[in-house]
Amino acid sequence: MDKRMTELRIARIIESLRADDESTSRTQREVLVVSAPGRVNLIGEHVDYNDGIVLPMAIDREVLVACVRRDDDKLTAVSLDLDNASQRVTTDRDGAEHEGPSWGSFLSASVRAAIRLGADAPGLDLALTSTIPIGAGLSSSAAVTVALILSICNASGIEPDPRELALAAQAAEIEAVGVPVGNMDQLASTLGVEGHALRIDCRDLSVTPIAIPDSLAVLVVHSGISRTLESSGYAERRAACEEVSARLGYKSLREARANEVEDDPYARHVVSEIERVDAFINALHRDDLKRLGAILSDGHASLRDDFDVSLPDIDTLVELLVKHGAIGARLTGAGFGGCVVALARVDEMNEIADAATKEYAQVTTRTPQSFIVHASHGAHQVQL
Ligand code: GLA
Repeated sequence: MDKRMTELRIARIIESLRADDESTSRTQREVLVVSAPGRVNLIGEHVDYNDGIVLPMAIDREVLVACVRRDDDKLTAVSLDLDNASQRVTTDRDGAEHEGPSWGSFLSASVRAAIRLGADAPGLDLALTSTIPIGAGLSSSAAVTVALILSICNASGIEPDPRELALAAQAAEIEAVGVPVGNMDQLASTLGVEGHALRIDCRDLSVTPIAIPDSLAVLVVHSGISRTLESSGYAERRAACEEVSARLGYKSLREARANEVEDDPYARHVVSEIERVDAFINALHRDDLKRLGAILSDGHASLRDDFDVSLPDIDTLVELLVKHGAIGARLTGAGFGGCVVALARVDEMNEIADAATKEYAQVTTRTPQSFIVHASHGAHQVQL
């Protein structure tokens, strides 16, 4: 995203805090601004909660949160992006309950998470704005929780370790939404490295940055079908995976081998997908574009046929991207809608995106949206 645009967005959220100001003394108080990126996952889908290996990258789409101290003990938040932008969510400083629109559960869960990280959660007014499309599979909720928790921690004078921040945000999202998400999105958001994807071992949380060559573009295309994790059969699939691993006597499917899960499609996806991640990284190191494309196609087929989280229109979008010249493409994120990720040569990316989205719109009558994303750095306090 353009630097000037980011500056304008920051000015807007700060302004919204000042506009609400009743006491003149507050205008002199320090404003903190934090940024937390969304992520796109290149390969390694539905394996994080199976202790697997994933390869996401933090993207240049982010949630920005500004906050200022209040005179009382309440924490309030507004989102400048929602229709009811002036509608404030409020919670007390132990985050026990919230008032206002339902997304207030993110604020109260984030307050509780920040307290568990050692924050004293002072009274705060927070304002947020995001460039991550909601329900797209680009981790808008992970970015919101990471940004809220980091804001509350920083306002309390503590600087959480990025891994602890990620795990706290994962717990907060599980509490706020009630879906047992894994740890990939939050780790990508807190540990992102510019120009690099992250090989994350979700079992021991070790992270290796993997450089993305300048010649390769990462193209994200929103199918025009939005999804929520609640309705995506996510919890059901997670439980099914855990059942298979328990039956095999393992702690997680990370320990299972392909020949042990031949008859179970969900587990078959997980075991094969974990293998695809290092194969993808090797192909990236060797600049083997053909192999990269084949791995992305296999990954998509496995999500479609074995894990059963794709949709016919998403399959069409994947096929069209490849037909129009992408190196490879696949569904990214939890599935049942959202985005497709494609790799393309930088000099061909715009042409491919235009041709594929045009044909997709004609065939499906949906409204796709495409954007090129760049790997960016993780959540941080913005220097004003
Ligand atoms: C969602 C979850 C992640 C991960 C992906 C699927 O984004 O939040 O933890 O499980 O789905 O890979």
